[in-house]
Amino acid sequence: MQTRFDCGELKLNKIPSQREDLGVLEGYHSPQLEVSVRLNTNESPFPLPDAFTQEFGSAIEKLDLNRYPKRSASELCVSIADKEILKESEVFVANGSNEVIQSICLAFGGYGRSALIFEPTYAMHSQIAKITGTRVLEGFRNSAFQVDENLALEVIRRERPEIVFLCSPNNPTGNTESLELIDAILFELNSTGGLLVVDEAYKEFSDTSSELKVSEDSNLAFIRTFSKVRSLAGVRLGYLLAPEWCVNMVKTVSLPYHLDSVKQIAGILALKYEDEMKRNLELIKKERKKVFDGLLSLPMKVWPSEANFLLFKPESIEAYKLWQELLDEGILIRDCSSWDGLDGCLRVTIGSESENDTFLDVVRKIVK
Ligand SMILES: Cc1ncc(COP(=O)(O)O)c(C=O)c1O
Repeated sequence: MQTRFDCGELKLNKIPSQREDLGVLEGYHSPQLEVSVRLNTNESPFPLPDAFTQEFGSAIEKLDLNRYPKRSASELCVSIADKEILKESEVFVANGSNEVIQSICLAFGGYGRSALIFEPTYAMHSQIAKITGTRVLEGFRNSAFQVDENLALEVIRRERPEIVFLCSPNNPTGNTESLELIDAILFELNSTGGLLVVDEAYKEFSDTSSELKVSEDSNLAFIRTFSKVRSLAGVRLGYLLAPEWCVNMVKTVSLPYHLDSVKQIAGILALKYEDEMKRNLELIKKERKKVFDGLLSLPMKVWPSEANFLLFKPESIEAYKLWQELLDEGILIRDCSSWDGLDGCLRVTIGSESENDTFLDVVRKIVK
């Protein structure tokens, strides 16, 4: 039988054209290579405890996977809200904090609107903003990777961005943003009506990051993730902490049932393993000091970090050469040397004790 849509002899003549503004975007992807020491994407080197795996397994067995997940993910939101001493209505959960960033850009950005970012910073803020058609305003950090307050305020006054992204601790530089800067930006946004989004993916690793709170009277929102200290990068779970009005606006752009049942359970259970999380956190901080001191004893510039990674700049060898030689030895780190403001820089994630020892031994061998 011949259907109406049978193409028969028809040859493909023209493929659909992609949006012009997407063609200029370069992908942001760290290479995923099979190596023995993976220190390139700031994951936790520690799996969740066996007790989690068992509980998770039996909870999955009981799931009615033929049914859609709970759309509101309310049990997970309540668990997060309880930890943060917030209300359930001040939490929005998503598929990794990248989806939170996307939802913010969809809700507040888009064509004719703009987002301000300060380079060098987490590349997905600008990448996702551009994908959503949001114009990106680029500010640049000073040589100590700090955001200049006057510059930030001047751009906000002039351009009136709908979104301002800060990252604290900042990826890939490791420093935190000061409370004074955040306050000054918030004060300015109070009259322009923009939203300040502080990406706190690495907050737990920091001893000095400002203890800011969500308030209904403030244009301030925070992004958090289960991918780092909570050891759940494979599950893809992140969240937004924000005033209720902001959460409601963000929810309008999320797809129905966007957070699957398995993920919701993983998040609720992972939050129960607080002691293990804190123990791992202390181990990472101790290891961070070891790796920092180890790199500093070599011809390198190393920046102090309040996250689970270190930015460094080799002085006796080209960055890409060191990156390649490490890779030849089965160690993968992040080559940031072509990123704006990071000429010659590399970033290494703090891994397990033995991964860090291997990394330092091999770097010493290459550099000396
Ligand atoms: C600053 C920052 N925000 C967000 C993310 C994305 O995290 P997620 O795995 O929750 O999407 C990362 C990942 O490396 C990050 O560095």
